Amino acid sequence: MITLDKDIKDLKILISEDEIQKRLTDLAENIEKEFSSEEDLYVICVLKGSVMFYTDLVKHLKHNVQMEFIRISSYGHETKSTNNLQAIDLTLPNLNGKNVLIVEDIIDTGLTANFLVDLFRIQHHPKKLVFAALLNKKCARQNNMEPDFYGFEIDDKFVVGYGLDYKGYFRNLPYIGYFPN
Ligand code: IMP
Repeated sequence: MITLDKDIKDLKILISEDEIQKRLTDLAENIEKEFSSEEDLYVICVLKGSVMFYTDLVKHLKHNVQMEFIRISSYGHETKSTNNLQAIDLTLPNLNGKNVLIVEDIIDTGLTANFLVDLFRIQHHPKKLVFAALLNKKCARQNNMEPDFYGFEIDDKFVVGYGLDYKGYFRNLPYIGYFPN
């Protein structure tokens, strides 16, 4: 165990478990309408941060869902984007002509989202590509990326919980929190 400079005692709740779960129902309903229910839907989990959002979201989807996982690292151990994106595992089946939903935890600078959308468009040629993020830090954006769907817009503060981490910790919390300065 490392010595952590942040203590869970100081964590303030930004979005409660209840608020997240309520928002998910609406979000899933709206996302569903984007895709034909006659066709398979490939739902891509961007590990590790979107794991909680992803597993909760897919439970609401009534399509024939194929669950796929990729892994990307962008923050390292910092609380500011390092602009240093590392693709750890991008293994996917053939998605040519398929309906694809990318599920991300948060869009911050937009660099990861941009990388992912380009990757899917150029390498996979999906029939339809939709990007959903739980959180949208609009004020931190460095490009013109916007998610097709998002759960909550938040200020430019570093958040943890519900999949999001600081130095690998706090992902398991059922709510989104932040450490006040
Ligand atoms: P972007 O490329 O700057 O948009 O950042 C995307 C990735 O950075 C997300 O998928 C997260 O893993 C991570 N990230 C961005 N903001 C936060 C935060 O506030 N807390 C924890 N991780 C974050």
